[in-house]
Amino acid sequence: MWFIRKNLASHAYAIVFFILFSICLYITFYDKKFPTTSPISIPLITGRTNISPGPYLDVHLDLATNWAMCQKHDYLIIYVLSTITNVQRRQVIRSTWGSKQKDVCFVFIVGQVSGTTENAGEYQLKINNEKREHHDVVQIDHFESYANVIYKEIAALKWANHFYPDIPFLFKTDDDLIVDTILVSSIGKVLVTNVSLRDSFLVQNRPNLVSTIISSNRETFFRGGWAMDYQPTLRSGKFGVSEKVWPHAVLPHYCSGFGWFMSKNIREHLVNASLIYPIEKAAWIGDVFVSGFLANAANVKCTGLEIDFDQTNSANCSCLMVNNPMLTVCSSSFHSGGGGTEMERYLEYQKAWQVIQLRHNSSDRKIGAC
Ligand SMILES: *[C@@H]1O[C@H](CO)[C@@H](O)[C@H](O)[C@H]1NC(C)=O
Ligand SMILES: *[C@@H]1O[C@H](CO)[C@@H](O)[C@H](O)[C@H]1NC(C)=O
Ligand SMILES: *[C@@H]1O[C@H](CO)[C@@H](O)[C@H](O)[C@H]1NC(C)=O
Ligand SMILES: *[C@@H]1O[C@H](CO)[C@@H](O)[C@H](O)[C@H]1NC(C)=O
Repeated sequence: MWFIRKNLASHAYAIVFFILFSICLYITFYDKKFPTTSPISIPLITGRTNISPGPYLDVHLDLATNWAMCQKHDYLIIYVLSTITNVQRRQVIRSTWGSKQKDVCFVFIVGQVSGTTENAGEYQLKINNEKREHHDVVQIDHFESYANVIYKEIAALKWANHFYPDIPFLFKTDDDLIVDTILVSSIGKVLVTNVSLRDSFLVQNRPNLVSTIISSNRETFFRGGWAMDYQPTLRSGKFGVSEKVWPHAVLPHYCSGFGWFMSKNIREHLVNASLIYPIEKAAWIGDVFVSGFLANAANVKCTGLEIDFDQTNSANCSCLMVNNPMLTVCSSSFHSGGGGTEMERYLEYQKAWQVIQLRHNSSDRKIGAC
């Protein structure tokens, strides 16, 4: 994004001037000497002169209480953006598509329950129990809100970068989706081993995808099922981006938050870029921001990958997965509506997980009706 670079450049001159030429810009940035605001409030910065380079996006994540929970030799971290109050949904995911897989680590990213939520204290107790029991929750110090999803996105990367600099790949998704994590892991495995067996599920169902992976640059691997080009910039509503942040009619290229893979190298670039990203230039839409705006600032790009996603509202992911073996991420009725009672919505996760397990079982790959 040219204007951010331009901004940083003019900031740079200001910084160099104001710290009396004594510290180079680079060191200054990483010393984090500049003031930051509490990002809990949505920024409304007025009357700012262009002298101060800050405030920057500042993810509040306590690394002391959000300790390490993966294994050093895991090859993939699947992080799932969740909401603190979705206690039961996380439970269902742990018993379905978030079930333990060898050398794969599942992590849920949640926020703080706001004081105005009913039973606020109770939810914090519940999440504390989950942390103790499952060791799979990272909790940021920002309130749950749609805008603060961008902090969850960055916190996940920052957390992984801090504790697991050597885990080579990550996959991002959300808790209102149904994900074929067996397929996701098998892609991760090919990325790591560079080996694909002729009778493997991937080679059988999508040989092109395997060739793509084998020939890909692992350092710069940043790819998702839905790469979005030419999306119009909306100026209002939940997905609104102000003219000040992005004057163009079309959003920067980005990947849908349904799911993307990322190498550890891309992760580090994004974390570094977030440390010097001006808060006033943030778009408060999780996937658009991280894989579009922040990626731009980090000079990296999320591109497409030949895995299938479906944003259905038929509450019927299990059937869709029977009919399309490469359907990897499918919106549950928590995401798209429909699906009857909450119980029936959970049932959808279970039915889809059955299909997923069956279709990857080489001795029983033909699955019947759904
Ligand atoms: C993977 O294998 C292909 C062909 O077999 C080779 O060209 C490529 O360099 C390998 N990539 C890595 C990362 O080992
Ligand atoms: C990120 O910043 C750290 C600390 O300055 C630096 O050591 C590292 O090389 C940077 N990583 C990338 C990918 O730019
Ligand atoms: C799901 O889709 C299948 C096939 O398209 C159909 O037979 C089935 O009735 C649907 N189930 C529900 C609950 O909509
Ligand atoms: C795979 O299929 C075989 C034969 O139908 C069955 O015994 C086995 O339990 C299945 N495994 C899984 C993981 O579903």
